[in-house]
Amino acid sequence: MKNKGLMYTVIALGIILVGFLGFQLLHNSKDNKEQTVNDKEKVLTVGVLQFVSHPALDQIYEGVKEGLKEAGYEEGKNLKINFQNGQADQSKLDTMSKQLVSDQADVLIGIATPAAQALANATTTIPIVLGAVTDPKGAGLVESNEKPGGNITGVSDQPPVASIIELAHKLLPAGKKVGLLYSSSEMNSKFQTGQAETAAKKLGLTVERKAVTSTNEVAQAVQVLSQSVDFIFIPNDNTVANAMETVTQEADKNNIPVFPSVDTMVEQGGLATIGINQKELGVKTGEMAAAILAGKSKPQDTAVYTFTKGDTIINEEQLAKFNLTLPADLKDTAKLVQTAKGDNE
Ligand code: TRP
Repeated sequence: MKNKGLMYTVIALGIILVGFLGFQLLHNSKDNKEQTVNDKEKVLTVGVLQFVSHPALDQIYEGVKEGLKEAGYEEGKNLKINFQNGQADQSKLDTMSKQLVSDQADVLIGIATPAAQALANATTTIPIVLGAVTDPKGAGLVESNEKPGGNITGVSDQPPVASIIELAHKLLPAGKKVGLLYSSSEMNSKFQTGQAETAAKKLGLTVERKAVTSTNEVAQAVQVLSQSVDFIFIPNDNTVANAMETVTQEADKNNIPVFPSVDTMVEQGGLATIGINQKELGVKTGEMAAAILAGKSKPQDTAVYTFTKGDTIINEEQLAKFNLTLPADLKDTAKLVQTAKGDNE
């Protein structure tokens, strides 16, 4: 009898123990599940559409990731980046934009004007941040730079065009005619070539325009311009930037100095520019996107950020090629670079 009583007690205790452990197990797994759901809720998605690959835009994208990270949004942790490259193809840009919208990105980033325009056509509700769009208003993306009004704001990379033309005139005082090389389809270039023309005329220079419709026409355009101009100015034009090696090759053959609007293109064999740091443009774009992700700002009342500070960048090899010396007042401030190896063979 006594033993039986003990046995029942042991069995009863056993049942209680098993029950308790089972309850704990269940409870824990429920906790874990809740944890996972919470973590998932915190992962936000940024859709990035880059127009094409060229060194400047690639650097901007690197900057975008850095800016997001500095603001606390890190890929693989609390951020998913859906990156698409349109390879300068309008139908690809449109399809990719629609896809990014239907994937319900929290914020979209368009790198370069044609990419931003494609995104703008795909949504009027998801916030879009412009990564280096020269003239957001002219491209029909905002009501005004100060008060964008809709779902779009971002960073403008308006280069100091007049100062670049003045720099060219200073380095080549005997030059009388400037060639403008750009793509007819890019809004950003149309705007800047107008500014270049005004600045050139002010200095008493004449202008010859040469617009291309694709990278295939760039070599011939440089050859044609080389027949009559003393130097070539290139705005922030994606099509020409994408064919910069060709530009340098043809210009070198014909002994024509080239003044681009961006440091990366001087590193690819241009002579000089006053340029905005491309990575910094991207960092600022990433920061603006982060502020929107965090609910701290809304595109409609966030002014477009315009960079004003440019560095004077001069290619030493090109300077020597044209037997030029660095003007004394630029000695302290100009950043001297060399043509990046392998870009120009
Ligand atoms: N500003 C260009 C646009 O609006 C994009 C761009 C940024 C760019 N950096 C560049 C183009 C450098 C050529 C070279 O589309």
